[in-house]
Amino acid sequence: MKPVAWITGAGGLVGSYLVRTASRWAPDWDVRGLIRQDVDLTDEMAVRRLWREHQPAAVIHCAAISRPAVCEQDPGLARKVNVEATALLASLSGDRPLLLFSSDQVFDGRQGRYVETDRINPINRYGETKAAAEKLVLSNPRHTVIRLALTAGTSLTKDRSFVEDMRRSAGQGQRLTLFTDEFRSPLPAGVVARAVWELIARKPSGLYHLGGAERLSRMEIGEALATWYPELASRLQPGSVAAYHGPSRPPDLSMRCEKLQSLLSFPLTGFRSWITSRPGGGADPWDYAMPDLNP
Ligand SMILES: NC(=O)c1ccc[n+]([C@@H]2O[C@H](COP(=O)([O-])OP(=O)(O)OC[C@H]3O[C@@H](n4cnc5c(N)ncnc54)[C@H](OP(=O)(O)O)[C@@H]3O)[C@@H](O)[C@H]2O)c1
Repeated sequence: MKPVAWITGAGGLVGSYLVRTASRWAPDWDVRGLIRQDVDLTDEMAVRRLWREHQPAAVIHCAAISRPAVCEQDPGLARKVNVEATALLASLSGDRPLLLFSSDQVFDGRQGRYVETDRINPINRYGETKAAAEKLVLSNPRHTVIRLALTAGTSLTKDRSFVEDMRRSAGQGQRLTLFTDEFRSPLPAGVVARAVWELIARKPSGLYHLGGAERLSRMEIGEALATWYPELASRLQPGSVAAYHGPSRPPDLSMRCEKLQSLLSFPLTGFRSWITSRPGGGADPWDYAMPDLNP
């Protein structure tokens, strides 16, 4: 019998890629993708019941309130899901591997090109909950945290990734104002899945950054995507975060990922080179690229 691996948040963007790629990259695991209908992670009794039933040997914890705006609107819910549910899973896991997805948003964005040892200083509630969850997970030396960068892909519900958000807005005729002075290190969800499965096979622990090798402005990201989605091209308009009036935004959340890269069999290339080296088109260009991510 194969050991059971739980993937929480399997209905979301990253969790769905982990489930879809498991037969290829994690054939030794009996992967159970959990969606909200299987178990509400804020229902402790239900989680404990399912835990006894499945006896997972590993947990990849993707479930979260992942939209910063929702965390601002409902900080109690954000804390319940992002922190308290994580604490429950970490305590149930004990010495078994648990991998939590954190976020580049634990940083304030004033420095950029962050490494794992840089000081965190979240400036929004989402980042605060992720920082709190990181701390409790890393208090167990057998557990792992991945700080993930902005992730592109196609979700089951077609409304999870920033690419889907952009395409929807463009489809509604809106102009997309993209900052030329706000930076991220994006990567595709298929790359995230492959990296995580490789990491799990190495029985990791500790803290890792996972992002693409290129530091790109929001505008550069939009221009790269327009090579696959030409309908975006006429909708993109450059803007400046300096002229933006709204909740504070971390300007530069680019991360360096050498620590994780040294453990992987494939290169974490830059987002632009990754897109331009593939034809795009077809039913879903993100799927097209998944089976073979070597450049
Ligand atoms: N995508 C990115 O760009 C990005 C970047 C940095 C870090 N991250 C982190 O990476 C992880 C995965 O992100 P993602 O983009 O896949 O997020 P996502 O698409 O929002 O998926 C999160 C999943 O968690 C589920 N969930 C929320 N509350 C739950 C609850 N109480 N019980 C059970 N399930 C619950 C959601 O279920 P419903 O579908 O029912 O709502 C959803 O399927 C998250 O921790 C996120 O914070 C993501």
